[in-house]
Amino acid sequence: MIKTIGVLTSGGDAPGMNAAVRAVTRTAISKGMKVLGIRRGYNGLINGDIIELTERSVSDIIQKGGTCLYTARCHEFRTSEGVDLAVEKCKEIGLEGIVVIGGDGSFRGAADLSAKGILCVGIPGTIDNDISCTEYTIGYDTAMNTALEMVDKLRDTAQSHDRCSVVEVMGRNAGYIAVNAGIACGATEIITQEMPYDLDNIAKKMLETRKSGKQHFIIMVSEGIGNSSEIAHILQEKTGIEARATILGHVQRGGSPTVRDRVIASQMGHYAVELLAQGIGNRVVAMQNNSITDFDIQEALSMKKPFEEDLYNIAREIAF
Ligand code: F6P
Repeated sequence: MIKTIGVLTSGGDAPGMNAAVRAVTRTAISKGMKVLGIRRGYNGLINGDIIELTERSVSDIIQKGGTCLYTARCHEFRTSEGVDLAVEKCKEIGLEGIVVIGGDGSFRGAADLSAKGILCVGIPGTIDNDISCTEYTIGYDTAMNTALEMVDKLRDTAQSHDRCSVVEVMGRNAGYIAVNAGIACGATEIITQEMPYDLDNIAKKMLETRKSGKQHFIIMVSEGIGNSSEIAHILQEKTGIEARATILGHVQRGGSPTVRDRVIASQMGHYAVELLAQGIGNRVVAMQNNSITDFDIQEALSMKKPFEEDLYNIAREIAF
């Protein structure tokens, strides 16, 4: 059986990554393995920025946002020289398997390492929920709840001033946060990159509903659309209703993980080590039909995730 494994977090941090590191560490130790924490993503593997993790060193982190292992995007690792350096380091320190917590970019690195004989298992960790093979990515629930809390506050001030609040939430390539936080906060309109939108129509609807007594408006914009200040400006011009734009930004990446994020991170961390213990690598842990499963990394990377169009349509139908 594999004796030493590593764990790293890579790409954007996400609340719940610490819970996953804790689960990986404790599951592996309970199976008699040694666990190394690789810091700052793949950089740590190339530079040897590695620490031993014990049951106690992962105490008191389950409730913390961010990642105790730090994270980074590693440009050197995208080159074959970088991958070779990492493989050399693994051999030097006897690292036989690695759990990689991150997004698609991080899984590509895990596939490269797996191809060179280092067993790697990916765990989906990103607030965007934009990993195709899985219904859920660690951090998503916390991020949506943070966005919701912020929009509830913005609604107070929009209501007080009879204004329109244009709120931009994260999701560079996917509008999942926008749709779900949008329906949950009762947004008047949700603008995401997956669906066409027309500012003339939105302005018209705002004016119609004003007549029926609606005084303030929340327009949820996904980061992939960008230009939320411009959207606010245009809507103000077209409707005469004062509009303000707020970009929530990185606040959505922080904070104590929700129950859902802690539970799923714990399940996925445990599952990843079970795979490594069986000598299985080149896999991504995923959630399908609410159960934890796994996919070949290349297969996972080639999958397409459907957009939640039904939810988007419901949100719009009940918005006015
Ligand atoms: O992938 C998570 C995410 O927060 C995206 O929603 C956002 O576009 C991106 O990361 C921001 O990256 P950075 O922290 O490097 O600015």
